[in-house]
Amino acid sequence: MKTIDGTTRVCGLIGNPVAHSISPLIHNRLAEIRNDNLVYTTFCVDSDRVSEAVKGAYALGILGLNVTVPHKQTVMAALVETDPLAEAIGAVNTLVRTDGGYKGYNTDILGLDRELSDAGLSLAGKTVVLLGAGGAARAIAFLCAKRGAAKIMIMNRTLERAQGIAEAVNNYFNSDTACAKPLTDCGKLGESGYIVIQTTSVGLHPHDDEAPVTDESFYEKAEAGVDIIYNPARTRFMKLMQKHGKPAFNGLKMLLYQGIAAYELWNGCEISRDTAQLIYDDMKQALGIVE
Ligand code: ATR
Repeated sequence: MKTIDGTTRVCGLIGNPVAHSISPLIHNRLAEIRNDNLVYTTFCVDSDRVSEAVKGAYALGILGLNVTVPHKQTVMAALVETDPLAEAIGAVNTLVRTDGGYKGYNTDILGLDRELSDAGLSLAGKTVVLLGAGGAARAIAFLCAKRGAAKIMIMNRTLERAQGIAEAVNNYFNSDTACAKPLTDCGKLGESGYIVIQTTSVGLHPHDDEAPVTDESFYEKAEAGVDIIYNPARTRFMKLMQKHGKPAFNGLKMLLYQGIAAYELWNGCEISRDTAQLIYDDMKQALGIVE
């Protein structure tokens, strides 16, 4: 059992709701394995009190905070500095204590970046098809551009949202890499060999048997697929990929690595692959995921 004493550092998660978050498990296990004197807990914060909460946390000496829905945008106004990429994305999920206040980062995309690297998937020079145009898609579109994707096709049911992201990415990187298309065009893409990143909520439990695209030719022409959903562990999207012999990955490693990246920022350390694997196994057990 962990001893909490007068020098224990505190980190936590602000959001609403926060009770079912897996983040306490990730960070408290990391602290335990590394023998760091640190505890991580959750703070349920109302939308009109985010700035007050961040100021109070700083005054209390809280080492770092994660931020989840619905505060990832609004929290930015309470920071002394924001990482340029997180600023461009317009969403922050990690606050790191600096002189005078917190600096904001987006470790969600760092998480996906590390998952892709684990999976041996490089985006450089590739065509990426991004399904969906919500907050997650926006962050991922920026990551794809940063990693040198040759073309980013953002495909969404509501075309205007995809257009908004494509425009923001092209403006930020001063390029024309990103474009928007309606989701219904998925079956008639001229390209092949693309990497698909699935960011819509379609297929999320309990709707396990749904996928945003069911056209088989779309999967046939793909090279690999990543679904950011992790419940179920094998989504219908992943099954369709695998049916056509293509590798497919779920979002659990993205979740793992967003936490690990935050922990590294707070503690100025580097978490080894072996430690990451231990946490990954614990997460699967806690979430009841059998792969
Ligand atoms: P997040 O911020 O987590 O990415 P979001 O902003 O709610 O979540 O976005 C959800 C995404 O899933 C959107 O791209 C949404 O499409 P619309 O922009 O057209 O709403 C997509 N989505 C949700 N239900 C869908 C459905 N039944 N068919 C296709 N796309 C769907």
